[in-house]
Order: sequence, then C-alpha cells, then structure tokens
Amino acid sequence: MMRISVASAPATVANINAGFDVLGFSLLGICDKVQACIIPEKAVHIKKIVSSGQGEWENIPIDARKNTASVALQAMIEGENLPHGYEISIEKGIPLSSGLGGSAASAVAAVVAGNQLLKRKLPLSKLFSYALEGEAVASGGIHGDNVAPALYGGITACLKNGIKDFQVVSIRCPKKLYCSIFHPAFPLETKKARGILKEHISLQDYIQQSMHLTGLLMGLTLGDYDLIANHAKDIIITPQRKSLMPFYDLFAPELMKVQSLAFGISGAGPSLFALSQTLRQAKIISELFSRLGREYKVSGQVFVGPVGAARPGVKIQKVKK
Ligand code: HSE
Repeated sequence: MMRISVASAPATVANINAGFDVLGFSLLGICDKVQACIIPEKAVHIKKIVSSGQGEWENIPIDARKNTASVALQAMIEGENLPHGYEISIEKGIPLSSGLGGSAASAVAAVVAGNQLLKRKLPLSKLFSYALEGEAVASGGIHGDNVAPALYGGITACLKNGIKDFQVVSIRCPKKLYCSIFHPAFPLETKKARGILKEHISLQDYIQQSMHLTGLLMGLTLGDYDLIANHAKDIIITPQRKSLMPFYDLFAPELMKVQSLAFGISGAGPSLFALSQTLRQAKIISELFSRLGREYKVSGQVFVGPVGAARPGVKIQKVKK
C-alpha cells in the first residue's frame, strides 16, 4: 500500500490595512490542496496542477524550481536532511495573483502534506520557515503575513527577529467578525504591487500609521469595534497601490456609506476586503460589491465568511501501488 497525504490550506487576507507585511487572517471556504507521496529521489516532482476554483491559475509554474509548493518542500528536504523526496499534485482553489494568499496557501499545504508522511513530525515553527521559502519565489520578498495565518489559522502577526528568524504571534479575534471579499477577474502580481512602493515615508506618516496599527491591535484583542473601525486604516501603502486597481476609487465612496468596520485592499490586491460585526452586514456588503462590479463593469466574484476561522487540514489515504 502507498500512503498519500492530502492537505489543504486556506486563503488569507494580508496587511488588514494597518499592518503591512505583519498582520493577516485566514478565510473560511477558499483553499488550495496538495497531495503528496514519498519518492526515493531527494527531489520534488510536480505531477499535475488542476483548479477547483475560478479565475486565473493556468500560469502557475509546473517547473519545480519556481512553484511555491515544490520550493517549500525542497527546502524541507534539505533543511531536515530527509532521505527521500516527494511527488505532489496541486489543486488550486485560490486564483493566481488575486491578493488572497494563493502562493502562500500552496506552500503551506505542501509542507503540511509532506510533514504528515514523516515518522517524526516537525513543529509548526519549522513548517513556517520552509513554507516562507516557497512563498518568497512568488512574491519577490520574504514576508510571512500570508503564510502565518494560512498555517496557524486565526489572526496572526508575523514578526521578524533576524534575517531568517521569524516569530508568529496569534492575535485574539473578536467572537463576531466577518469578512466580505470582492475578487476582480484580473491578476495583479505581488512583485509588481511591491515594486511601485516608495522606499521612504515621512515622520508624520510614520506616527499616524503607528497609531493605526496600535489601535487595530488593541481593538482586536479587546473586542472593541470602535477601535477597529477607527484604526484598520492605511495611509502609506493603499494610496500608492490604488492606481493599480482603478475601481478602488469608484467603490470606496459607496463602501463608506454602508456600515463596514473597515475596507481596503486584500494583501497586494487586486481583491478588496471589508470587515463587519455581523454576518448580515457582511452579506449586505458582498451584495454591494456585486452591484458595484456590475455598475462599473468590473467582473468578479464575492465571498463572505468569518474572520480567522480556517486552518489547514490533513489526512492520509492508503492506495494500492
Ligand atoms: N504584505 C504583502 C504585500 C502581502 O502587501 O505586498 C502580499 O501577499
């Protein structure tokens, strides 16, 4: 009998406006899956990539040196000096370059699937560092704000203590917090969305943004919705990036009229997210997203779900060789 490990990892919303490259949360209902089995050769082979979702995914590299899932597993083989390699199949539920953490989710699902086949299981902190190496090939920089919530679930802060030394801190999530997503049907590469950012900011902006990050973190941990609404804001990155998604300025005034706690760009975009205190409000916002998409001719999909409720899953299947 051959053992096949099947793992899933959720989509994620990185930054949450105030915490660029630091904060993120997992999204229930959209995920990538990776199937893995052990092979004698100390390498990773990608057998196939299929899609279970909608949106762009055909351009995901099947070259094992460029795919986030295989690069993450290769890092694990080398880092742990494993005596074997893996053959993997990837099922993309998260569209490519959507701002929903698809490259991180594939890397996380790969290391979770690979780990499940090991006799001695690795701690999450090690899986995190290998998944991060995988994510880096797609995003053009090492930042763990998608990998952390995809692997740990919930709302996370990814803190960097040294060049390759990261610490993931789980942040308390208010009991009632929902997310609405608008995913426009065009890709935006993270590398491009990072490449346009200025290297320097003013002291005044630094102070204001520090207040927003502190206010959002306090709001989340205290369950204080006013603090969340006042501080889930970004005055540094969003003003620079919104030109890459021209619909942002058309949607924003309408979103300000409804009672969302916050809205903004999900990760590097082009998806938008909004936070609500109730599921009912989150559904109203997703209907608004659909209406605005029709009005401004931006075709796309909407999702609604609880913030931070998703985490990776894994199971072993035994099949005849
Ligand atoms: N923090 C990253 C960015 C997330 O906004 O560029 C990318 O997925």
